[in-house]
Amino acid sequence: RLDVTETFHSITFPGHLHTQDSLNYATNFKFQDTDTVIVTYPKSGTTWMQEIITLVLSKGDPTIAQTQPNWARAPWLEQYYSPDVLNASKGPRIITTHLPYRLLAPALKQSKAKVIYVARNLKDVCVSFYHFHNVAKFLPDPGTFSEFLNAFLEGSVHYGSWFDHVKGWTGHSKDIQNFLYVTYEEMWQDLHGALQKVSRFLQFPLTEDELILAQKHCSFNSMKENAMVNYTLIPQEIMDHSKGKFMRKGKVGDWKNIFTEEQSFLVDDVYSSQMADSSLKFLWE
Ligand code: PPS
Repeated sequence: RLDVTETFHSITFPGHLHTQDSLNYATNFKFQDTDTVIVTYPKSGTTWMQEIITLVLSKGDPTIAQTQPNWARAPWLEQYYSPDVLNASKGPRIITTHLPYRLLAPALKQSKAKVIYVARNLKDVCVSFYHFHNVAKFLPDPGTFSEFLNAFLEGSVHYGSWFDHVKGWTGHSKDIQNFLYVTYEEMWQDLHGALQKVSRFLQFPLTEDELILAQKHCSFNSMKENAMVNYTLIPQEIMDHSKGKFMRKGKVGDWKNIFTEEQSFLVDDVYSSQMADSSLKFLWE
């Protein structure tokens, strides 16, 4: 069985990818000021931001994006293979993490590492995560969508609560020296603008032609065909590609195709009480 669970500080993680050692390694990590850290709740645009950063740093040249898997060029800090990849890495590192603020902040606050936090509206995250549970054999059986939605709202799914994650990171953004907040929806509405924003934040200016080239290679249609990011390299025993694709729809508002009206009202209710102390606004459709 691949769907074993690892519990760390009351949050569950897929044991296929994480161990107590790897989670301890992550929470005690020595960040360098030259590190760029992509932080996301799962299914919020992680792979997209990995590709955007790769293409900004290569000035739109797709060679690296098309020859190195995303997990090799932007490894997840908390996954078991991370020490090997990071120790072997030369030059400025791109590091990815799904860890919540409370677990990573002590390590991160010691450095000037650049943090890019990508958030996506809760309803689309929930739908994308639900479908992914049916594809990824290292995630538990999600049950019906309604059962999954309840677990998701309760925060008992792997990687914990969406609310804690989003509020934790954005609520403490001022405690991090270099912090950029980007939403999936803004990347979707204006990819060119998002690339410019990331390039400015990384202090890595691109010409208009380079930006256009980068934009072409991180569009949904390009990434869907790129084996280095579409997870088709992962064997069938670990991801059952017959159950669905990692690059599934890439849309804002797909939740409307699965949510009932009642489920949508339920989320709106929980959302307004949980987010009452937050000024974040999301585009939902
Ligand atoms: S993971 O497993 O946490 O790393 O997943 P993550 O990469 O965060 O999220 C996967 C969803 O992002 C969509 N995606 C994109 N959408 C639009 N444009 C581009 N270029 C793009 N790349 C990835 C992907 O399709 C998943 O969303 P859904 O809604 O399931 O399609």
